[in-house]
This record gives sequence, structure tokens and C-alpha cells, in this order.
Amino acid sequence: MKRILVTGGLGFIGSHTVVELQNEGFEVVIIDNLSNTTLNVLDSITEITGKKPDFYNIDLRVKTDVQSFFETNTIDGIIHFAAFKAVGESMHKPLDYYENNLGTLVYLLQEMRDRKLDNFIFSSSCTVYGQADELPVTENAPVKKAASVYGNTKQIGEEIIQDACNAHNLNSIALRYFNPIGAHESIKIGELPLGVPQNLIPFVTQTAAGLRDQLSVFGDDYDTKDGTAIRDYIHVVDLAKAHIAALKRLLEKRNKENFEFFNVGTGVGSSVLEVIKAFEKATQKKLNYKIVGRREGDITAAYADTAIANRELNWKTEKKLEEALASAWKWQQKQ
Ligand code: WQD
Repeated sequence: MKRILVTGGLGFIGSHTVVELQNEGFEVVIIDNLSNTTLNVLDSITEITGKKPDFYNIDLRVKTDVQSFFETNTIDGIIHFAAFKAVGESMHKPLDYYENNLGTLVYLLQEMRDRKLDNFIFSSSCTVYGQADELPVTENAPVKKAASVYGNTKQIGEEIIQDACNAHNLNSIALRYFNPIGAHESIKIGELPLGVPQNLIPFVTQTAAGLRDQLSVFGDDYDTKDGTAIRDYIHVVDLAKAHIAALKRLLEKRNKENFEFFNVGTGVGSSVLEVIKAFEKATQKKLNYKIVGRREGDITAAYADTAIANRELNWKTEKKLEEALASAWKWQQKQ
């Protein structure tokens, strides 16, 4: 039975990926420092799958702790989620973001180098493309200068991995996420934003639940069908399954390059107003919102060309926007 390390495995995407790994018969060990989640996510995962993953409360910024973990753990692959991910916050705390998102990446890769480990899956983001010149975005689209420190950590992260693969005979896949949303069908795990939600869907569900007075729609003067910005909202379970497909590609040595990257989205772009309408339809809840000015750093539109991921990973999304929104609402009602 292959044993997979999932860093950030108690987070939103990490926890959903741990469930799918266990469903596929992998043994899972989680490293998480609980900086953006809570320990009861471990119990929820165990309730869903009936198997309790091994768990280490380690801060990957502490190099000696990372080293001692690998001294006592045999690992067949790593899925690396652990990182700070708030775009706005990253502009005020660049050094915290570079230390956490890149320092920890280097420590993990050094352990892989020293212990001859292989198979590294990296959590990347469509943010690396900035505002793409052509839509849908393909993997050949040029990586543009990042609009945020967060996006820059993903760009630099991919470069670090490419150099490590070239120098140390490693194999890695980066998955460039579009916008993950929704919750597991059991409604035992989901998105747990601490504080005021930065992302659209948690703000929508908290507004519908009466925790927020009103949703602010950031701009309706974009060059889009209804003036509001367009994104590719992918159900988090479909996203989790893409990680299993990528891991199997590496374990079965089907990768064609030592470092590959794939767009992981639905291929469908939805505007903010379309999301609001879809939410109201899926939940029969009227949403209180108002149009305000644009948010700094936002791009007009991004949605994925999924052809390469579909073919090479033999993976495609199965869940539609309405289902993802309905699951997000059910998860919110449970909070
Ligand atoms: C979506 C749309 C907003 C909130 C970022 C990162 C990406 C990933 C997901 C980490 C935009 C609009 C939002 C609100 C709004 N992060 N919006 N009112 O910015 O596309 O992507 O988060 O993995 O890497 O770049 O996601 O959910 O913040 O915004 O109108 O209260 O909703 O302007 O058009 P984004 P988002």
C-alpha cells in the first residue's frame, strides 16, 4: 500500500484530497500546523472514510522538524498544499508569504533529494497566467508577471520545482487550480474561512445565512456579458480527484516530462451575477447584494482550456456549478 504525505491535509482542498486518496486505497499521513484549520477536520475525514490518517502537527518552516519527520516516515509521494493563500493579505505580508510558501517548499525538496524520494504534486494556481490574452486559458499561455505576492509564490514555486527535477532526477506535477468551491456530499468537510471571507462563495453563503448583511459585487464595468468578472468555479471534489489522477500518473511513470503542469478547471466561465442567480436557483434563497467598485488586482476573466488535463490525466469534472453551490449552502447551514 503506497503511503502519501499530504501537507496542509486538514485544509479545504487538502481534506477533500485525503478523502479521495483513502477511497483509492492509499495510506495517508498529514502534516498540518493548524494555522488555517482545526483539528476536528481529522475526525470528519475519519468519519467519512472510516480510516484515521496519521497526523503530525508540524510547522514546515522549522527545518529540523521537517528532517526528523522524514527520518521516521517512509513516503511514496507528496501532495503539497500547505501555504498561505490570501491574495490581498499577501500584499501586506510579502516576507511571511515568501518564507512560508517557498521556504517550506525548498525544505521538502531537499528531503526528497537527500532520501531519493520521488513523485511530488504541487498546488499551483491559474493566477500564474494573470489576465490571459486568449480564453479559455491553455497551459501554453505565457506566465505573466504576477499581480500579487501570492501569485508570485506560485510562479517561483514552479520554477524551484523545475530546477530541482532537472538537477536531482525528481518527477513532479503542478496543478493550476481555477476557483475551488463547494463541499463533500457528506457535508462533514467544506470551506472554513476564518474571519471575513475573501473569496466569493463563502461570502455568498454567509450573506444568505444572515452572518453578513450584504454581498458587495466588485465592479460591473468589466468587458464581459453582464459587466461582472468571470471565473471558472470547480467543485472541490472534482479538484481533489485530479490530484489522484496526477499522483497515479507519476507512480505509474506515465509522465512525459520530469515536471508537468495542468489546468484544473471546468472549462466554463461564470460571471459574478450568474453565480448569484445560480445560487438563488439552487437554494431558493434571495441574495442581498449591491454593486460596488472593482477590487484592486482583480482580472476580467479566467476560465480553463481543460483538453490537456482531460487527455493526459484521463480526468474531467463531473459536477456542475449549481451542485457545487448547493453543497456550499448545505455546508454553511451546518456551521
Ligand atoms: C471571485 C470573483 C471577485 C468576493 C483567488 C486567487 C486564487 C484562489 C481563489 C487561492 C472575482 C468577485 C469576490 C466578494 C466579489 N486563491 N468577488 N465580491 O480572486 O478569482 O481567485 O481566490 O487558492 O488563486 O487568485 O477568487 O473568490 O476572491 O473572487 O464580487 O465579496 O468574485 O471580484 O471577480 P479570485 P475570489
